[in-house]
Amino acid sequence: MTNNQSIACGTQQPRRKTIRLDNMNAHIKNVEYAVRGELAIKAEALRDQLNKTNSLPFKTIVNCNIGNPQQLQQKPITFFRQVASLCDNPDLLLPENRHIVSQLYPEDALHRAEVLLEHIGSVGAYSHSQGIPHIRENVAKFITERDGYAANPDNIYLTQGASAGVQSILSILVKDQSTGILIPTPQYPLYSATLSLLDATPVPYLLDESQDWSLNVTDLEKSVSTARANGTDVRALVIINPGNPTGQCLSEENMREIIEFCYTQQIVLLADEVYQTNIYEPEARPFHSFKKVLMSMDSVFHDLELVSFHSISKGMIGECGRRGGYFEAHAIDPEVMSQIYKIASVSLCPNVHGQILVDLMCQPPKQGDASFEKYNQEIDTIYSSLRRRSRKLEACFNSLEGVTCNPAFGAMYLFPQIRLPAKAIADADAHGKAADNFYCLEMLDATGVCVVPGSGFGQKEGTWHFRSTFLPAEDLFDDFCENLTNFHKQFMNKYRD
Ligand SMILES: Cc1ncc(COP(=O)(O)O)c(C=O)c1O
Repeated sequence: MTNNQSIACGTQQPRRKTIRLDNMNAHIKNVEYAVRGELAIKAEALRDQLNKTNSLPFKTIVNCNIGNPQQLQQKPITFFRQVASLCDNPDLLLPENRHIVSQLYPEDALHRAEVLLEHIGSVGAYSHSQGIPHIRENVAKFITERDGYAANPDNIYLTQGASAGVQSILSILVKDQSTGILIPTPQYPLYSATLSLLDATPVPYLLDESQDWSLNVTDLEKSVSTARANGTDVRALVIINPGNPTGQCLSEENMREIIEFCYTQQIVLLADEVYQTNIYEPEARPFHSFKKVLMSMDSVFHDLELVSFHSISKGMIGECGRRGGYFEAHAIDPEVMSQIYKIASVSLCPNVHGQILVDLMCQPPKQGDASFEKYNQEIDTIYSSLRRRSRKLEACFNSLEGVTCNPAFGAMYLFPQIRLPAKAIADADAHGKAADNFYCLEMLDATGVCVVPGSGFGQKEGTWHFRSTFLPAEDLFDDFCENLTNFHKQFMNKYRD
């Protein structure tokens, strides 16, 4: 019976949907993104339950599954919000309002908003597809000052967060299934998810936990030669530095080796540097950009194809919801650059609010500006607190039975290894869960703390980990550590062999 006949006969058979799980894009079905996966979904359900009843053993859900600082009470930087609000409501800058507004906003915020609006027009209008030229010039100045080597605004693309930049560069790099992209294990799942979507071949390489998650070029070479021997066309290497989920910060020497490796192996280097200001041991483990290290090397290496990504979501800014970022494309073939521009123009433009924050991130108040002191003090307060919290949580994890945890030299996460009793692994198995997932679900049920199992990032076979941010507010941090400690003790007592 056709649908029309069933309606005519009044049998009310539900009409078969045109787009279904069995016929939709299979690549989308293959995508996994653990940061917002099973744990996060369960955490949301528990949050709803908490809102309705008081029947859970904790009062709040603590989202340590995602590096989203303002969700966990981190305050926005005042100057940034002042300029953003003036750009949104330019009537405040009219001469007749000036006397009132200048009591609320410092002179440099008013001036910056005027300059930005001169270049932007209205924040409600589409901008240049590559990003507002004035803002790209400011990004180029920032890179030039950071590295001591010139950057060209024509090579900079403003993006909706670093994610959109990564996705468009990967979509340009991937020709078909045979294209291989080297990604770290463990990795931030944006990479594995995008490669699934594009139906490309991830070529994993291991970060060495026993060496503070550093990268071993000999292992890289092995990964590439095995993949190439199997017919995979390995074209690019993703490096996340400082690392997510691992918190490593690469030494300059290690970076030079990686550059030489990419150069000789004809591999494009993709440097995800979104955590470049989250550096907690600046003397021992400073941040170096790949662009700077590359340009400091012999000029033969200078035409290595390098794309570097940055974001307003991280650092001390934490404006994740505004979706702003950029990438710098270095030594990319001009014909490919035209294709990058074409792809950017298909989405018309990155959102203008995000672009404004990129401008402010790259050109914050300077010494002598009215907002300088306050800006500095806000950045410093957030930075010092993040550093203290990273150490506290690291000490907490290292005090737990069967747990070891490397320090976070950078980024916002710790990635402890947990050695689980055989009984716990068997129980997890019986529930159809990976052991680390099982542990994290039990943690969520007992404490309301939502973390992400190591299997969501990839981990060396036979090891179990989880990733937690150290973003919970500092005044709640002791309680947070105590809850985790109590949970772990109870878990181990329940399952100890
Ligand atoms: C390593 C890494 N790259 C990129 C991103 C995405 O950042 P954005 O918010 O700028 O898209 C994240 C977010 O957590 C990240 O950890």
